[in-house]
Amino acid sequence: SLPQQVRLVEVGPRDGLQNEARPVTLVQRVELVDRLSAAGLGHIEAGSFVSPRWVPQMADSAAVFGNIRRRSGVRYSALVPNLQGMEAAIAAGATEVAVFASASEGFSQRNINCSISESLQRFAPVMALAGEQGMAVRGYLSCVLGCPYDGRVDPQQVAAVSAELLAMGCYEISLGDTIGVGVASATRQLIETVSRRVPREQLAGHFHDTYGQAQSNIYAALLEGVSVFDSSVAGLGGCPYARGASGNVASEDVLYMLNGMGIDTGVDIEQLVRTGQWICQVLGRDNGSRVGRAMGKV
Ligand code: HMG
Ligand code: MG
Repeated sequence: SLPQQVRLVEVGPRDGLQNEARPVTLVQRVELVDRLSAAGLGHIEAGSFVSPRWVPQMADSAAVFGNIRRRSGVRYSALVPNLQGMEAAIAAGATEVAVFASASEGFSQRNINCSISESLQRFAPVMALAGEQGMAVRGYLSCVLGCPYDGRVDPQQVAAVSAELLAMGCYEISLGDTIGVGVASATRQLIETVSRRVPREQLAGHFHDTYGQAQSNIYAALLEGVSVFDSSVAGLGGCPYARGASGNVASEDVLYMLNGMGIDTGVDIEQLVRTGQWICQVLGRDNGSRVGRAMGKV
């Protein structure tokens, strides 16, 4: 049976903008976050504290956190790869943080320059500091349905790393199909396997739409009892270390589907569509949301 409510985690300002070629100004990054919170999104990943040499688009994330208009109840999260990033996220006033690991060794090396087990070791001091600060930590796991370097990824491996992230103290594990290669049957199988180690209530889905499978994967995950999904307004973005990765599934498209199924999210589709149109204009790109294009015409 389908959930009555879904929590949408808006990752456009981070996962989206980190891979857009055209530079976005600080003012525009701030406006994007503020428009998203005004549309009713309750959890927005506003930036990341990674090496600016690796991801120049996310440099200056501290200033984004410093200038947004904070709405009460909204969680503004930051992606952090290590203690240095964690300290910066705290100083910037992030509500919560997210650490990120990979289910495949090849992607771990290319994305964060270390093995999976080394990355988990780097998270230990991050988790300790988060504990002291009373900050919640979310865990991302990449390449759960395939890796651009290693190919097939074993669901047992995904389950094992997910279980480690949970044991370290992550409140939720977001399973990322980083390169969008998964299909619905594989998604169901994956969640079935991972849920033996991590309760379904603590799993989220993070689908990229590279092969047009994101919506059916979300539906498959909904049927498996997952009720938290990451999405990106206008389908912005991709991943600089996963060639060919297109943007995340578009928030507008997910919302349209959930609305049609009578599932509550608290997000206003009209405002979200207008936000998507606005950011596409800013970036000079086509709107990656079908719903955004369709509703934008009327
Ligand atoms: P490294 O070069 O191995 O790190 O990079 P290092 O510890 O040797 O440090 C090298 C330099 O980086 C030093 O500066 C550090 O200070 C600096 P230098 O002394 O040479 O001038 N540095 C930092 N600067 C700012 N903030 C930091 C930080 N840490 C070190 N936190 C590192 C290792 C992890 C830092 C690097 O590989 C990195 O930043 N990678 C980030 C990659 C990234 O952001 N990828 C995109 C996000 S993941 C994603 O999109 C997937 C996801 O959406 C889910 C999915 O779709 O699957 C989450
Ligand atoms: Mg992603």
